[in-house]
Amino acid sequence: MDRKQFLKTCGFGCLVGIASVTLLQSCSASQVVSKQIVGDDLIVPITDFEVKTSDTTGYKKYLIVQNELLTHPICIYRFSATEYSALYMACTHQRAELQVYGDKLQCAAHGSEFSNRGLVESGPATADLRKFPVTIENSVLKISLK
Ligand code: FES
Repeated sequence: MDRKQFLKTCGFGCLVGIASVTLLQSCSASQVVSKQIVGDDLIVPITDFEVKTSDTTGYKKYLIVQNELLTHPICIYRFSATEYSALYMACTHQRAELQVYGDKLQCAAHGSEFSNRGLVESGPATADLRKFPVTIENSVLKISLK
């Protein structure tokens, strides 16, 4: 490979790398939102799950919701227009923060894995995730933190 070819190859590789990182950042950013707590409830408009294109409306599988009063975020999975699960993203083994991978939550500390309904699927954790009751009022999810 001559010098010119080498520079072309490296330049293209760098562009692909930068584009990939930018795309990943924009995807993850759209899944993480900061929301208010009113009384004992974390308030999340259902429209936050919507992904609109010119002629259709799709829905995100999940949202990660943060608030400065929470030690860990809450992951809300959407199963249907009326069914959601709100899971505290603290591992039940030693409280490390979980990461979301599609329909599962995984712990990078020691490898525990949980389902999108909060059930422990592999250890060392033995307890299910903390799950918060979800009610829907006027197109708003109310996640009860009591
Ligand atoms: S803290 Fe999550 S598996 Fe140990």
